[in-house]
Amino acid sequence: MAVDTPRQLGFGVGSNGQAVRKEVDDTFSLKSKTVILQADTLAACQTLPTDLFSLIVTSPPYNIGKSYEQEVELQSYLDWQETIIEELMRLLSPRGSLCWQVGNYVNDGEIFPLDTYFYPLFKRRGLRLRNRIIWHFNHGLHASRRFSGRYETLLWFTKSDNYVFNLDSVRVPAKYPGKTHYKGEKYGQPSGNPRGKNPSDFWELIQEEWDTGIVDIPNVKSNHPEKTVHPCQFPVELVERCVLALTEEDSWVLDPFAGVGSTLIAAVKHGRRAVGIDRDPEYCAVSKERLDDLADGRLKYRMIGTPIHQPSGREKVSQVPTEWQTKGNGR
Ligand SMILES: C[S@@+](CC[C@H](N)C(=O)[O-])C[C@H]1O[C@@H](n2cnc3c(N)ncnc32)[C@H](O)[C@@H]1O
Repeated sequence: MAVDTPRQLGFGVGSNGQAVRKEVDDTFSLKSKTVILQADTLAACQTLPTDLFSLIVTSPPYNIGKSYEQEVELQSYLDWQETIIEELMRLLSPRGSLCWQVGNYVNDGEIFPLDTYFYPLFKRRGLRLRNRIIWHFNHGLHASRRFSGRYETLLWFTKSDNYVFNLDSVRVPAKYPGKTHYKGEKYGQPSGNPRGKNPSDFWELIQEEWDTGIVDIPNVKSNHPEKTVHPCQFPVELVERCVLALTEEDSWVLDPFAGVGSTLIAAVKHGRRAVGIDRDPEYCAVSKERLDDLADGRLKYRMIGTPIHQPSGREKVSQVPTEWQTKGNGR
């Protein structure tokens, strides 16, 4: 796992360089800036205004028996999720986007890729898929009877063809910015975009992209600066890309399964209004604490675009253990 140096972390400054304001409400009002609703998702969604949200972004429970969920038969889980999705359709604005981040449901060693089950639930309601984004990470459990899983997916849908997409706000440096047109009227002129290139649907950070062309936003695990008590956070940076590309300033963002508030942080950092729903009082308290820390300039998070830590090869953990070297094969 990459450990970021303090220099690479952000401390409570919004994208416009202004300090983030401390305004968190526990009930919704159109005057609110940031709202944490400690409630059941469906019940809370039913209280929110129609067509308000420019972006709904979440990682729902995967039905895999985590501490915050009760595993049920796959179809019952999907039926429950569908009742929520139906309500989310009402909340999503006509130009809005919905980003649904999921991994696998696993039963008896068999995997069920949840995005393939969710896709028809959204498509049936008229949403249009714009990208199926691969979120690749290099750490996690090592499987012994299948290959270790190292990616999850994020389905990005829009409600209509008239949607917000601010590509310039999320461009990444081009691998070969010095490339030129090799023929025609523009012969010899730079062929790329001076603002950088499209980050693609395989999400990577700058250094990785430069070196290998692979998108890699670190998974939030124990030694990550954003880690809290929550067992399954997603990184703030993952949501930041969605917020920046798919919404305008001051628009509303909703996370219906907000956990410890990673979406709220990404939204508030960039001057958006946000509502997060979670039924767990402890997670809601941590969300509030993280938002306060953001406002006070104390919150640690990976700055968007921070390169993944690259081992130099000299670290102890990069060395082949001496026990493995005794047979002379170096392994
Ligand atoms: C995968 S986690 C989301 C984590 C979040 N993305 C973050 O970064 O902190 C799913 C969350 O859904 C919440 N949850 C599960 N069932 C719920 C329900 N019926 N109503 C409200 N929240 C629920 C859990 O408490 C859990 O925090």
